[in-house]
Amino acid sequence: MSDHLIAVLPGDGTGKEVAIEAQRILDTIQQHTNHGFEQTVIQCGGQHYLDTGEEWAEGSFDFCRDEADAIFMGAIGQPGARLPNGDLAGGSVILGMRSGLDLYANVRPIRLYEGVPHKVHGRFTNIWDPDLVDMVILRENTEGLYHSLLHRSAQRAKGLEGYEPPSIEFPGLQGEIAYDPRPISSHGSERLIQMGFDIAETRNGAPIDNVNRVSCIDKSNVTRGCQLFRRSYDKIADKYPHIVRDYGYIDAFTQWLTRTPEHYDVVVTSNMFGDIATDLASVLQGGMGMAASGNIGDNHAFFEPVHGSAPKHAGLNKVNPIASINSIQMMLDWLARRSNDDDLLHVSKLIDQSVAEHLKDGKSLTYDLGGTATCSGVGIAVADRLAAHLKEL
Ligand code: IPM
Ligand code: MG
Repeated sequence: MSDHLIAVLPGDGTGKEVAIEAQRILDTIQQHTNHGFEQTVIQCGGQHYLDTGEEWAEGSFDFCRDEADAIFMGAIGQPGARLPNGDLAGGSVILGMRSGLDLYANVRPIRLYEGVPHKVHGRFTNIWDPDLVDMVILRENTEGLYHSLLHRSAQRAKGLEGYEPPSIEFPGLQGEIAYDPRPISSHGSERLIQMGFDIAETRNGAPIDNVNRVSCIDKSNVTRGCQLFRRSYDKIADKYPHIVRDYGYIDAFTQWLTRTPEHYDVVVTSNMFGDIATDLASVLQGGMGMAASGNIGDNHAFFEPVHGSAPKHAGLNKVNPIASINSIQMMLDWLARRSNDDDLLHVSKLIDQSVAEHLKDGKSLTYDLGGTATCSGVGIAVADRLAAHLKEL
């Protein structure tokens, strides 16, 4: 028996559609188990800003921080929606929470389910055995190249003054100069890397050899921030002698990732590298429609599909809800582990099982997986499977 208060932030574009399917999963669990989910929907995002002049209603950040047990977000991003200072409208929501709630790890599992075709060559193929893609990428989420924007967005979310990085001289440059400092701290790196090793301990290792491995992906041949990140990695790795060390530069990593994904178990990297590498890695799992994520800190977490608002598909009921359903699975796993709730942990595994069965069956897939099913059609089908499993409990 557990009751949880969930903040649901549908956001922009297709975020609204996938949020409905995320909520459907929570409703299904509430209906068939003792686990209750009170859901508070908060409208937000770029379109909300254009309509109301606010990125979200005043008090929303405080609600997410002080009241909600966990947060689900659909997507943020409306073309043309910018704040007067040029920042992304809706940034207070996604970036403000990442920084303001100190959600230092962006955890992005990359797993190819059986039956899911992917499009590495532009055509649907099953060239990989699904057992060859099963890794988790951890992206640092509070510093690096995003730091100024993150901090500015968090200040705004808290109703405080904006932040501008200190001015720096750049010898030899001419004309207008724009720059984003890329601060990397030992504290920020170590806690992220620590979480990576902790996750590695719960897994079965890399698909190729079942070896527990944490790969440090950086550009330490070039940047000082990455040299610090790598030193932080070595320091944490010393505490885990039973986990195999592995190093790669981000440029080389992109080709190994697509060529030999089976080598990877857990990957830790900095903010912008992780942003880019996880979009690339999503292709290995069938595309962005399959990519779930959790923004996780020590006291708070929000969960979101990686795909963004996909404005061109908005309102058409066509995008894949599985990234959102799997984000809810991650949320319940997180809530269950925090409260030592084995029953809720089991329920979260049943979500994964229902998704896996649905995909293996392959009859109801959205366009991105080569099918013609609707977003709600897939959401209802997965929820029905889940309900059937829950009834057996
Ligand atoms: C992501 C997105 C965000 C990011 C955008 C929407 C600000 O691309 O979650 O990966 O850059 O982090
Ligand atoms: Mg991204």
